This record gives sequence, structure tokens and C-alpha cells, in this order.
Amino acid sequence: MKRVLIYKRFERLWHWLQAALIITLAVTGFEIHGTFAWLGYETAVQVHNIALWMFLVLIVFAAFWHVTTGEWKQYTQRQGTVSAMFKYYTSGIFRNEPHPVKKTELSKLNPLQRVTYLAFKLIIVPLQVVTGLFYLTYNRWPAWNINGDLNLVATLHTISAFSLVIFFMVHVYMTTTGRTATSNVKAMITGWEEMEDEVPAVSGRLAGSPAIGD
Ligand code: HEM
Repeated sequence: MKRVLIYKRFERLWHWLQAALIITLAVTGFEIHGTFAWLGYETAVQVHNIALWMFLVLIVFAAFWHVTTGEWKQYTQRQGTVSAMFKYYTSGIFRNEPHPVKKTELSKLNPLQRVTYLAFKLIIVPLQVVTGLFYLTYNRWPAWNINGDLNLVATLHTISAFSLVIFFMVHVYMTTTGRTATSNVKAMITGWEEMEDEVPAVSGRLAGSPAIGD
């Protein structure tokens, strides 16, 4: 076992800020939607407005960071398959079977994480942001010659908000499936994670590696 700095300082800051902003946007958004009453409609709109600008700035910084550090390459690593991961999370994990993929500094996402995080970053968040921006600029549509349907924009914004909330719940559950129930969350706070020593890969699978989750 060795201790590895797996999450860099910016990455951790970005992760927790993003989590706080998405929770704030979800709570205020669903209050605006009329799901419950807590802050009051006016305040909910004001908080949603402040949080959305912070979220937009954070997205720009995060995109810049992914490109300049080369971290986007985490999404192109090929190790294991999505179906092996799905099988592991739906049955193997309950039978104490070894994790099918070993986490390394160069490949810290397993295949299932890779597709879900990619869908999160390239589909769900962009849909939320684009529909939100149309919603925000509704008063300017006539000047921009946009003959849109505000109801449709609000519905799409709400549907993608539901997908974000579902992603959030599954994501929180998945954080408990690491080496121990809290090891992944601790790693995202401190940056450090205990890892197996490197072993050479054999035909796409790592030789004799009991891997994380053990
Ligand atoms: C950059 C991102 C975002 C932008 C630009 C944005 C923008 C907006 C705007 C302008 C409104 C209408 C407020 C009003 O009626 O005055 C709204 C409502 C709402 N937002 Fe967002 N938002 C963003 C992110 C989010 C996120 C991340 C969530 C949830 C996870 C969310 C959930 C909602 C919901 C549920 C509503 C109520 C929709 C309705 O019933 O009409 N928003 N948003």
C-alpha cells in the first residue's frame, strides 16, 4: 500500500464548490417550481440568480483546468468495461468479490464512472445551463428574434434538474463503495488515498490485483 495524492487542490475546491452550488440551485430551483415553501419565492429567485453566476464562473475555471492540466485524459483511459463495473456494483460488491478495475494516479475513474461523469459534464450540466440561460434571458428573446416557448424551456430545465438530483443521489451512494465506506470522501477532502502498489497489466486486466474495494 502507498499513499498517493490523487485529487489536486483545485480539483477538490472545484468538486466541493460545485456540490454546494448544485445543492443551492436545486433547493432554490424547486422552491421556484413550487415544490415546497422555505425561503419565499422572491428570495429563492435571488439566491438562484447569485448561485447560477457563481456556477457559470466555476464551469469556465474547471474547463480551463481540465484542458491545461491534461486531466480530461482521465476520460480516454481504457481499462475494463462498463458491463464489468455494472455487474460488480449490482452483485459482486455484495459478495465481496474483487473490484474489476484498479485505481491509479493515471486512471482514477472506473469505466462506469467515466460514462456517468462524462454524461454529467457533457449532457446534464450543459442542458441545465443552456435551458437556464434561455430562461434567464426570456425578456430579450424578442430583441434577438427568438420566438421560443418559455413553458418548454422551463419544463426542460426542470427535467434536467431531476436528472441532476438523481445523479447526485447515486453519486453519494457510490462514494461509499471505495476501500472503506468513507475512504473516497476522505480522499476528496484531503487529496490523499491509500493505493495498491503498481502491478503490470495483463491483456487489459491488471495481474493478480485485489484492487480497491478490498
Ligand atoms: C447556470 C445554471 C442555471 C441557470 C442559468 C438557471 C436559471 C434559472 C432561471 C432564470 C430560473 C427561473 C427563475 C424565475 O422564475 O425567475 C430557474 C428556475 C429553476 N431552476 Fe435553474 N438555473 C441554473 C441551474 C440550475 C440547477 C443546477 C438546478 C437544479 C439542480 C436548477 C433548477 C431549477 C428549477 C427546478 C427551476 C424552476 C423551474 C420552473 O418550474 O419554472 N437550476 N433557473
